[in-house]
Amino acid sequence: MVKNILLTGATSGIGKAAAKKLLQEGHFLILPYRNEEKASVLKEELEAIAPDRFDLQRCDLASLDSIRSFADYVKEKYDYLDVLINNAGVWNRHFRESQDGIELTWAVNHLAPFLLTNLLLDLLRKGRRARIVNVSSDLHQGSIDFEDIEFRKKEYNGVAAYRQSKLANILFTKELARRVQEDGITANALMPGFISTDLFQDLNFFARLIIKIIAKSPEKGAETIVYLALSPEVEGVSGKYFKDKKEAISSRQSQNIDLAKRLWAVSEQMTGLRASVSE
Ligand SMILES: NC(=O)c1ccc[n+]([C@@H]2O[C@H](COP(=O)([O-])OP(=O)(O)OC[C@H]3O[C@@H](n4cnc5c(N)ncnc54)[C@H](OP(=O)(O)O)[C@@H]3O)[C@@H](O)[C@H]2O)c1
Repeated sequence: MVKNILLTGATSGIGKAAAKKLLQEGHFLILPYRNEEKASVLKEELEAIAPDRFDLQRCDLASLDSIRSFADYVKEKYDYLDVLINNAGVWNRHFRESQDGIELTWAVNHLAPFLLTNLLLDLLRKGRRARIVNVSSDLHQGSIDFEDIEFRKKEYNGVAAYRQSKLANILFTKELARRVQEDGITANALMPGFISTDLFQDLNFFARLIIKIIAKSPEKGAETIVYLALSPEVEGVSGKYFKDKKEAISSRQSQNIDLAKRLWAVSEQMTGLRASVSE
C-alpha cells in the first residue's frame, strides 16, 4: 500500500538517498526544503524515478514560523500521514543563531523536529499505524546542559552542541513514544552510520578528505531509515535506538526518563507549543 511519508533534509546526503529509495519502493513523499537550487536538482532526480509521487515545499527548519506555515500546508492538503522522518540536521563549527535567535544546532537538530512532529500528530493519528523516525547519532553521549543549552554562558563548542542535540533526539523519541503509545503510533531513533555527506562541510580540508575516504555512502546511511519507515519487522516497536537495522543500546543518559520529561517541558517553552498529547 502506498504510504504518505514526510521526510526532512532530502536535498542532500542521507536524506536524498532515503528519498530515492522510498520513491522507488512506490510511496508518496512530502519533502520540505530551504534551498531553491538544491530543490530543483532534487526535483529532476526524483522525476526520473516517479514524476507524480512527491511534493516539494519550502520550509526553513531554522524558523519556527516557517515550520508552522509548512505544517499548516500539510494539514490542509493531506488527510493523513503514515511516516514522519526527521532527518535534517546541521553541524556548526562556530556559534550561529536561527531566525528566531536560538543557537542554530539546537534549533534545527532538536527544536525543529520537536515542533514539526507535535504539529503533525493529528495527521499521524489518522495514518495507518504511523511511524516517526528520528535520525540521531552515536555521538549522542554527554548530557543536556539545561543551565546553558544555547552556549550563551560557556564558550561555543560545535562538537558539544551537536552531541547535545543528538542526545535530545533520543530523549525526545523516548518521551514521544510514551505519549503516543495509545494512538498506535511508534517512534524510534537511529544512527545512520558514519557517512560521507555535506554535514561535515564546516570542517577543515584535511578532516573532510579523511571523512571522504573512510566514511560510507549516503545509500548505506539511508538503509536504517528506510528499514524503520517500512519494515514489517519493526511493526509496533517503539522508543528504541537502532543501528545497522538492529536495535542498539544508547547511552545511559539517553534512557533517563526524568531528563526526557524535563527536555519536553523546555522544548515546549522554547517553541511556544501547547502539546497536543497528554502528559
Ligand atoms: N553523515 C554522518 O556521518 C552522520 C552520522 C550520524 C548522524 N547523522 C545525521 O544524519 C542526518 C542527515 O545528515 P547528512 O549527513 O545527510 O547531512 P547533509 O548532507 O548536510 O544533509 C542535511 C540536510 O538537512 C537539511 N537542512 C539543514 N538545515 C536546514 C534548515 N534550516 N531547513 C531545512 N533543511 C535543512 C539540508 O538542507 P540543504 O541541502 O539546504 O543544506 C540537507 O538536506 C542529520 O540529522 C545528521 O545529524 C549523520
